[in-house]
Amino acid sequence: MKKILVTGGSGFIGSNYIRYALNRYPALKVVNLDKLTYAGNPENLRDVEADSRYRFVKGDICDEALVESLMPGIEAVVHFAAESHVDRSIGKPDDFIRTDVFGTFVLLEASRRHGVQRFVQISTDEVYGSTDDSKFRETDPLMPSSPYSASKAAADRLAYSYWVTYKLPVVIPRSSNNYGPFQYPEKLIPLFVTNAIDDKPLPVYGDGLNVRDWIYVADNCEAVDLVLQKGGDGEVYNVGGGNERTNLEITKTILRELGKPESLITHVKDREGHDRRYALDTAKIRGLGWQPRHSFEAAMRDTVSWYRDNRAWWDKLKSGEYLEFYKRHYQREP
Ligand code: NAD
Ligand code: TYD
Repeated sequence: MKKILVTGGSGFIGSNYIRYALNRYPALKVVNLDKLTYAGNPENLRDVEADSRYRFVKGDICDEALVESLMPGIEAVVHFAAESHVDRSIGKPDDFIRTDVFGTFVLLEASRRHGVQRFVQISTDEVYGSTDDSKFRETDPLMPSSPYSASKAAADRLAYSYWVTYKLPVVIPRSSNNYGPFQYPEKLIPLFVTNAIDDKPLPVYGDGLNVRDWIYVADNCEAVDLVLQKGGDGEVYNVGGGNERTNLEITKTILRELGKPESLITHVKDREGHDRRYALDTAKIRGLGWQPRHSFEAAMRDTVSWYRDNRAWWDKLKSGEYLEFYKRHYQREP
């Protein structure tokens, strides 16, 4: 690929992906279309801003004329842009439906018109819903349970329909929970690391025994690149780190790493409709030659150190709109 359009490239995974792709492919040109919502942050890509192969466009994926104007010469679209936080979707689903569903439609339509060679629809393991005892396979039914995961499931299947109906070469990675640098501090790991650094309480929902399968963001970026290059048309690929942990285990790992006391753990009211466990069977993408290269222990240590060393990055994010959201939604401080 010579030129790709990345949407949502100023967010957590998108910024890690753009950095990875520019490093890996010296001749690649990247256009980053990002609305810069509360979750989008130009600082995430400060180090690549001056690279002549990189172009940033501030704008909305729902803006049909803008998307249309960016398409000439684009060979592949890697579509990360989304409203991505389950708790916000519970409080106010509107933007999730607009961006995650309608925005995906706008991109698919433009891609179809321009004969894009590859459309990577970034999906999520949350589209399967919760499982107590098995691991999800790509052929399992989708049972999303939050407005966030339902909007992602809609986009996931809409993208698939563009392969079946129009032969737009779509590929759909469904990854598990990512962690690593530049993750907005509303998600479990960066919220708890930054709270613990400041000796603030860590608000564990319910009994803290919900399970997520954690993947280091760099491993996910490699998986996205692999399915972009080698994934089958219309195919779905589960991308999981193979690190199932309860939220309490994650919390204790963070506290141990920072040398902070477990007395910071505070059990708070559970999330509405809180999925108990996500777990993925990753045999299919392993068959393409991918496997995670980072151990959970080492990558968590690096991640905690990154937040410890980059206070200037997250400190200003934990103010203003962020505080208002917490007070409104949880009736408490984050
Ligand atoms: P994020 O919230 O950190 O970033 C989202 C980015 O999209 C932001 O830069 C934001 O400004 C941009 N954006 C939002 N609405 C937009 C719009 N209408 N037009 C243009 N840009 C817009 O999200 P993330 O954690 O980096 O997740 C990226 C993608 O990966 C999402 O599609 C998400 O569903 C998916 N995903 C995330 C995880 C995870 O653990 N974070 C796991 C599986 C899948
Ligand atoms: P989150 O990072 O929001 O990701 P997702 O809900 O998409 O998996 O949450 C991860 C887990 O951590 C989830 O089970 C909810 C829980 N959680 C807490 O216990 N407290 C918190 O403050 C947050 C943000 C999440």
